[in-house]
Amino acid sequence: MSQHDNIRGHIREQMNDISVLTNAAMIITDTFEWIGSSHDIPSDIHYDELIDIAGKVILPGFVDSHTHCVFAGDRSDEFARRLRGVSYSQIASEGGGILSTVSSVRKASIEELAEKGIALALEAVNHGTTTLEIKSGYGLSLKSEIALLKAIDIVRQHVPIRIISTFMGAHDVPPEYAHDRQTYVSMVINEMLTAVKESGLAEFCDIFTDTGYFTIEDSIRIMESAASLGFKLKVHADELSAFGAAEMAAQLHAVSADHLLFCSEQGMHAMRESGCVATLLPGTAYTLRLPYASARTMIDAGLIVALASDCNPGSCYTPNMQTILSLACMNMGMSMEEALTAATLHGAYALTREHECGSIESGKSADFIVLDTDSYTDLIYHFGVNHVQQTWAKGKRIR
Ligand code: NIG
Ligand code: FE
Repeated sequence: MSQHDNIRGHIREQMNDISVLTNAAMIITDTFEWIGSSHDIPSDIHYDELIDIAGKVILPGFVDSHTHCVFAGDRSDEFARRLRGVSYSQIASEGGGILSTVSSVRKASIEELAEKGIALALEAVNHGTTTLEIKSGYGLSLKSEIALLKAIDIVRQHVPIRIISTFMGAHDVPPEYAHDRQTYVSMVINEMLTAVKESGLAEFCDIFTDTGYFTIEDSIRIMESAASLGFKLKVHADELSAFGAAEMAAQLHAVSADHLLFCSEQGMHAMRESGCVATLLPGTAYTLRLPYASARTMIDAGLIVALASDCNPGSCYTPNMQTILSLACMNMGMSMEEALTAATLHGAYALTREHECGSIESGKSADFIVLDTDSYTDLIYHFGVNHVQQTWAKGKRIR
């Protein structure tokens, strides 16, 4: 067996081994202090309050590592057109799609943007999310991108979960540069990246590398500049076509490549070699009626597969990670345990937070959910209802 075969087997086994404890107890402050059998609680530990949740399941809170849930406007009309057979690309080429949200965002105040984000983040919390990444990318000018990032910061102040910000000035080319794409690329590199870095409002930089959006060449220029300024990298890769974006993400040492509906075998190979997380967004394939990403092949090939919602007004309008788990199990051949690992610990990897959250381990942030059932399998089996009864973040009950 080669070294890679060993790694492959290892990842698959790890994803399926979720270490279920029965009759368990835990002691928490803002972190998990102790986890074990209720018969073995250390006698020298003092606690202020004892909470009995017998008969319920406790899981790590969901880590939703990819969303665009701060925006303005309404695109339900586009959704209706797509149901009548018009494609996402066709709508985008008519000036709709991302650019329709850009035009609404540019008219909105920071407070209005934040209000939308807070509402969606609270919906996410109600469905079990305790870590949420949010991207800018609907402003596409320095002023509007900063407004979105400030709105994300306001969401962070109002919703007591871990919120990670990503700058995505290269989400699309704005209409005023439609005939001068290179000037926009230079603007992202020379003005936006430095200003966003100075503002301290974003940790990651993301880009949409695909047909009709940013070429590989332009993406490399933008991402190399972002990396040299200290941004961690993410890539919207091979969502609409086999574009070689996964290969590029691996070459750039991006933390994750996301979507990957049309990822090639070479792309998967390159990602495995570089340790780039494959973040899959089955809600988007569902909403756009596209073929799902090859989760089974990726897991069996030894990639670190994460699941996220992609919550956004165009291609997937849900912040509910329970729905994402259902779609992953039913349409991407993932086991329930693989889906849970992908939506928690592997999401944390996709945000470089694996030492801080994503699993119930002593020393990690006490982020967990209590389900209204005695079996975690109900999340998938008894689908379409919200099983999250309680959400706890950093040791505090927030739902
Ligand atoms: O992740 N692919 C690019 N961005 C979003 C869609 C954004 C939109 O349609 O508003 C996505 O699918
Ligand atoms: Fe996205």
